[in-house]
This record gives sequence, structure tokens and C-alpha cells, in this order.
Amino acid sequence: MAAEVKQLPPPVLTGGMPLMEAINARQSGRRYNPEHKVDDQTLSEILWVAWGVNSHGKRTIPTARNLQNMGLYVISPEGCWRYNAQDNCLEKVSDENLIPLCEQQAFVKNAPLHLIYTAVDDRWGRSHVGSAYQNVYLYATSKGMNTVVRGMIDTAALTAALPLPEGQVVIAHQTIGYAE
Ligand SMILES: Cc1cc2nc3c(=O)[nH]c(=O)nc-3n(C[C@H](O)[C@H](O)[C@H](O)COP(=O)(O)O)c2cc1C
Repeated sequence: MAAEVKQLPPPVLTGGMPLMEAINARQSGRRYNPEHKVDDQTLSEILWVAWGVNSHGKRTIPTARNLQNMGLYVISPEGCWRYNAQDNCLEKVSDENLIPLCEQQAFVKNAPLHLIYTAVDDRWGRSHVGSAYQNVYLYATSKGMNTVVRGMIDTAALTAALPLPEGQVVIAHQTIGYAE
């Protein structure tokens, strides 16, 4: 499909809750107000903490042998978007609504933001995804948002639905939003 690109505002890379306080307050949150949307500034920062490029020109998370063999996608009822960290944008890769493939728990449909993590399973993929979703947990905590990472998804159907690089599969889903 023709590339449809959504440019993101630059992430603000200062401030936030002190790290030790954020770690101390981190927990999974499954309550979301569907009317309270995540704005583009916050979206940009969530994507950056998960899988952005930092001041060293490196990813915000480590990867085995620096393979950087992970992918981060935003899914919505309008389709699926791949995060391009170098260009700080989202590139549309599908018009399909993939959220029903993640809806095994009732709270999921209320979340305003859905991330999908992909990786190469036998190349430390789950470790890489774990680093990324933990960064999102800490960011969400810092911003007073709720988040939970989820393995209860149809990974085979999601993997089949996405145009993934060779060897990558869908590993996890993460919902993010505001309780109120
Ligand atoms: C790999 C992984 C998969 C998970 N899958 C789900 C899930 O499908 N649904 C869900 O509600 N929570 C899921 N969780 C969240 C855990 O239930 C949660 O982290 C755990 O109960 C501990 O709670 P805490 O995160 O508040 O410390 C998952 C967590 C991890 C690390």
C-alpha cells in the first residue's frame, strides 16, 4: 500500500518523575477512560522511550549484538502503524483493525492506545520487548497513566496480518491510557 506517514512532534527528553520514585510506583493498570485520548506529544514520548534513538545514536533499550531486531507498532480501529524512530514518524502498514485480535479481556476495548511489539523469538526477542515495555511502564507511571503489557493475544493471527521483516513475530501487546 502507498506509504501514509504521520509525523510526530519531537519527544521532550527532560523532566518527569525521579527514576527511583517511578520504579517504586510502577504497577499494571487495567482501568481506562476511553474518552481520554493520548495526545501526539505523549504518543511520541511513549514510542521514544520504548524504541527511540537516544543521545548516543543508540536505541533507548539494549539489543543483543546491537541487532536492533525489534519492531513497534500502534494499532487502532483505523489500521496499523509502524514506528520509524529515525524519522520520528508512524508509517501506515495496514488498514485492518487488529484490536479484536487482542480483545480477550474486557478492559482492552477501553484503552485509547495500543502498542504491538515484534521481535525475533530465538534472538533474544522477548528480552528486547521486555526492556521496551518496562520503559513504557516507567514513563506511564511518571505521567499518571495506566498501562499493562499483555501476552493474551492471538499472536499467530497478528503475525500473519502484519508485513513483518523476515524472522520477526508478534510478541506482546501493551495498552496505555488514563484511568479518569
Ligand atoms: C510477559 C507478560 C505477559 C502478561 N500478559 C498479561 C495479559 O495478557 N493480561 C493481563 O491483564 N496482564 C498481563 N500481564 C501483566 C501481569 O499480570 C502483571 O505484571 C502481574 O500481575 C504483576 O502485576 P504488576 O505489573 O502490577 O506488578 C503480563 C505481564 C507480563 C510480564
